[in-house]
Amino acid sequence: MAIIAVYSAKGGVGKTTIATNLAWCAAQGRAPARRTLLWDLDAADGAGFMFALEAGRKRQARSLFAGDVQPHALIQPTAYAGLDILPADSSLRELDGLLLRMGQRHRLATLGRQLERSYDRLILDCPPMLNELSAQVLRAATLVIVPLPPSPLSARGFDFVVEEIRRHTKRPPPILPVLSMIDRRRALHNEALAANPTWPWIPLVSAVEQCAVHRRPLGAFAPNSPAADAFARLSQGIERKLAQMAQRAAQAA
Ligand SMILES: Nc1ncnc2c1ncn2[C@@H]1O[C@H](COP(=O)(O)OP(=O)(O)OP(=O)(O)O)[C@@H](O)[C@H]1O
Ligand SMILES: [Mg+2]
Repeated sequence: MAIIAVYSAKGGVGKTTIATNLAWCAAQGRAPARRTLLWDLDAADGAGFMFALEAGRKRQARSLFAGDVQPHALIQPTAYAGLDILPADSSLRELDGLLLRMGQRHRLATLGRQLERSYDRLILDCPPMLNELSAQVLRAATLVIVPLPPSPLSARGFDFVVEEIRRHTKRPPPILPVLSMIDRRRALHNEALAANPTWPWIPLVSAVEQCAVHRRPLGAFAPNSPAADAFARLSQGIERKLAQMAQRAAQAA
C-alpha cells in the first residue's frame, strides 16, 4: 500500500480538493482501479463533507491513535466502489497532545500498516499545521504532494516544506509540488507555469469549487471537464512515480 500525503503548513491551498479528487481518481479513474482509503486528519472534516457522509456522532477519530478503537470500525464506504473514508471529527483537535504524551514517533505509520491488506492506496488529507501529527505524516508517507498556489510566496512555502521533511525523516519521501489554482488569464500564474514546466497543475475554475456544492468529486459530475483531466493527469503522474519507486526498490533488493 502506498501512502500519499497531501500536505502543506498553509491553509486554503487546495489540500482537501486535491486529496478528495485524487482518491476518486485512484479508485474510479482511467488508470487500473486501486482499493483506496481517504483518511481525513483534519478536525474540520472537509473530506467527509466532500463525499456527503453524515457527520458521525461518535468522537472516535482520536481514540484510533490511542488504540481504543480499530481503524476498520471507523471506516465508511462512499458512494463510489473501491473508495472508503476514515473520517475526521472534532476529537482530532486534541490529537497532538495525545501523540506527544504517547511518545511513539511512528504511531500513524503503525496504524497505516494495519490497513495495508485492505487497500492499495492510502491518501492523507492533512490539516494546515506544523506539529507532531504533521511530522508523523511525513515519516509515514511514501510520497508527499504539496499544493502550491502560484505566487512567489508559495515557492518560499515549498522550500520550507522540503526543509521540514528533511528535519523529520532520515530517508525523506519524494515530494511532488502541484500548482493548485492556475488562472491562465493572469501573467503571474503563467510565469509560475513557465518557471516550473515539469510541475503538474490544476486550473482555477468554478467546476472545482462546485465539488463542495455538489459534494461529489469532479470525475463524478464533470468527467470531461479540463479540470477533471488535470486531476487524472496528476493521478497518472503519481502512479508513474510509485511504479518507478517500486522498480528501484526491487533492483536494490
Ligand atoms: N483549482 C481550484 N479552482 C477553484 N477553486 C478551488 C481550487 N482548488 C481549491 N479551490 C477552492 O479553494 C478553497 C480552499 O480549498 P481546500 O479546502 O481544498 O484547501 P485546503 O488546503 O484543504 O484548506 P484547509 O487548510 O482549510 O484545510 C475551497 O473553497 C475550494 O473549493
Ligand atoms: Mg483541507
